[in-house]
Amino acid sequence: MKKLAILISGRGSNMAVLINAVKRGQVPAEIVLVLSNRSDAKGLEIAREAGLETAVVSHKGLSREAFDQKVNAELSRVGAEFVCLAGFMRILSEAFAREWEGRMLNIHPSLLPLFKGLHVHEQALAAKVAVSGCTVHLVTPDLDDGPTIGQAVVQVRENDTPDTLAARIQAAEHVLYPIALAKCLGENPEIPIREDMLISLR
Ligand code: GRF
Repeated sequence: MKKLAILISGRGSNMAVLINAVKRGQVPAEIVLVLSNRSDAKGLEIAREAGLETAVVSHKGLSREAFDQKVNAELSRVGAEFVCLAGFMRILSEAFAREWEGRMLNIHPSLLPLFKGLHVHEQALAAKVAVSGCTVHLVTPDLDDGPTIGQAVVQVRENDTPDTLAARIQAAEHVLYPIALAKCLGENPEIPIREDMLISLR
């Protein structure tokens, strides 16, 4: 059982899915901490209700390096061995990314390497792509980069808005993330066959 920490900044719907996957035994991990840089992150309430330890490390007034050191201190305190970023809206310092290299996953709502950064769905619609999706990847110092663990592909529809596309991709994220994490932690997860998305692991 790997000791897992989940880093969030907001709603925490991916975090909630990971919590449930751990509960069901789909992911061989023990969640030792949910950490947010924002005290008003909705996901913190979900984590507390699930009986998990939570922590808030505010980024305000801190350099990127100082913030990351505080986060790292929390991760050490709980003995975290693996980290999942789940809507964590801070860019990590190179030192932090290197320290956790190979042991830290991120989920991004596009088919990387397309559409990095913010306003991803606007970027996808502007590019008039026919499919989009999400990517779970190992984190490296470069933003939204690093080895792909898995991707889920969904259709882009004629009348899509950024919101409707985001909703379809979020549903795919919730299927992909637990499976990709399980794979990283040494499992051989079953890949669901679905009509509304195509899921593939590397
Ligand atoms: C997700 O779309 C994820 O891909 C991105 O941030 C969003 C987080 O959503 N990195 P939630 O907080 O998990 O609901």
